[in-house]
Amino acid sequence: MLAERDRKLTSLPRPASSRALLWGGATASSQYEGAFAAGGKGLDTQDVRPYLPRTSDATTATRLLTRSAVERAKTDTRGAYPFRTASDGYHHLEEDIALLQELGIDIYRFSISWARLFPMGDEPEPNPEGLAYYDRVFSAVRKAGTKVFLTLTHYALPLHLVEAYGGWTNRALIDLYARFARVVFERWGDAIDYYLPFNEINAGYFSPWNGVGLIKPEDGEYNQSDVFQSLHHQFVASARVIQMQREIAPACQSGCMVADFCYYPHTCSPEDNLKTVREEQVNQWLAVDVLARGYYPGYVDRFFAEHGIRIELGEDDLELLARYTCDFASISYYQSSVCSTSETAEHTAGNLVCTVKNPYLQATEWGWQIDPVGLRTALNKLYDRVRKPIFISENGMGARDVLERDGGGKPVVHDPYRVDYLARHFEQIDEAVADGVDVIGYIMWGVIDIVSAGSCEMEKRYGVVYVDADNHGNGSFERIKKDSFAWYRDFIRARHEGTTR
Ligand code: BG6
Repeated sequence: MLAERDRKLTSLPRPASSRALLWGGATASSQYEGAFAAGGKGLDTQDVRPYLPRTSDATTATRLLTRSAVERAKTDTRGAYPFRTASDGYHHLEEDIALLQELGIDIYRFSISWARLFPMGDEPEPNPEGLAYYDRVFSAVRKAGTKVFLTLTHYALPLHLVEAYGGWTNRALIDLYARFARVVFERWGDAIDYYLPFNEINAGYFSPWNGVGLIKPEDGEYNQSDVFQSLHHQFVASARVIQMQREIAPACQSGCMVADFCYYPHTCSPEDNLKTVREEQVNQWLAVDVLARGYYPGYVDRFFAEHGIRIELGEDDLELLARYTCDFASISYYQSSVCSTSETAEHTAGNLVCTVKNPYLQATEWGWQIDPVGLRTALNKLYDRVRKPIFISENGMGARDVLERDGGGKPVVHDPYRVDYLARHFEQIDEAVADGVDVIGYIMWGVIDIVSAGSCEMEKRYGVVYVDADNHGNGSFERIKKDSFAWYRDFIRARHEGTTR
């Protein structure tokens, strides 16, 4: 009897969980390219973010810009603006792709700078120098035999669209964005394997400057209707782009991406648990429900009503969202989070959100709580929700690496903590696959050191390749392989040979 039931179970249709995972690495244009004024590029929202020495509110001040901060940045010639130089990837393109080829990654995630292609964002035709630069990028990546995972926009928005249009609150951005996307798909569609219309689309709630290009009122909080109206426009823009891509470049796989916070209730009290469910719904699942399932979920009505949020929908928006859902879902995952109804619980930092401290976990120097098992949990929960293939489009460890000289004077970086972090997360990905989650691949964040998007520092490094630059944009920009480079290269090689480590 049991055997009969087991046979029935194993013959159920199953997802392709035994597919060989793709192992990758990522950068984002604003955090990597630098050369902010080269080749006719326009100013974007990241170019005006200053480096502020670390204090309790430095991250907030450089993440949520007011109009006066923007004005100051435009004429400031003395302050440090790390995104303007970033890793100088613009001038190290071929060298960096050769390093990635040596590393042996299957897939490279990068983004296109909207302001390099359309310096103001609203020109009728793209900038020829921008096109020429990305021609070189696509051709170098393809020549290296690496698949392409493209993020159409990763936070950086042409500054003109913020100042003249009000960022994504303005519905006009949908058409301007579609114009930008059309150029990308017509020119490079054949070379793109996977893509995201937007990086971490839920970042718009927590980081409205980065996410949706909203200026912070000088003396107050963001208007939440503006934030959610902007997000709605990005949802519609995502669906429009998917529709367009399926016509122009049907072989590409479209995705959606959220920052995953993997919430745990602080205690088993029903109140803590309910709060966890509700935070998870709004902070994390809302975008997934709209973009992967194709509808605004019911819980949003109550949330909007309780917070006085009103948004306007275009006549065909809901139909468009229902028809053009993404092919795969993806997450960035850096830490798990804890929810509590207690007002005195101790907090710590995390990606985009602050969380209650978890006594079972250790944290990075930036307070992000390291939780490999949480990645397995996150993958299971997301897959249960969407039943679509999942990409881990970002994960990694931000640390202050130390550049040293070995006995022969050669520069070296010993980063055993990063190897440990990666190995423990990779084990949990295997567990999630064994759980039945259909994982397409894993992409290591900031594979070559880049500027941090949250705190605007170079010294928070994620890469397996060190870039000799500091928070002020000084340095030789020399590339140095860290110890983790050889470890990741050997790991990927072993996976390709069909063995596990
Ligand atoms: C994600 C972003 O939020 O986290 C990246 O998509 C970012 O752009 C990454 O760099 C890590 O955050 P941070 O603040 O350490 O750079």
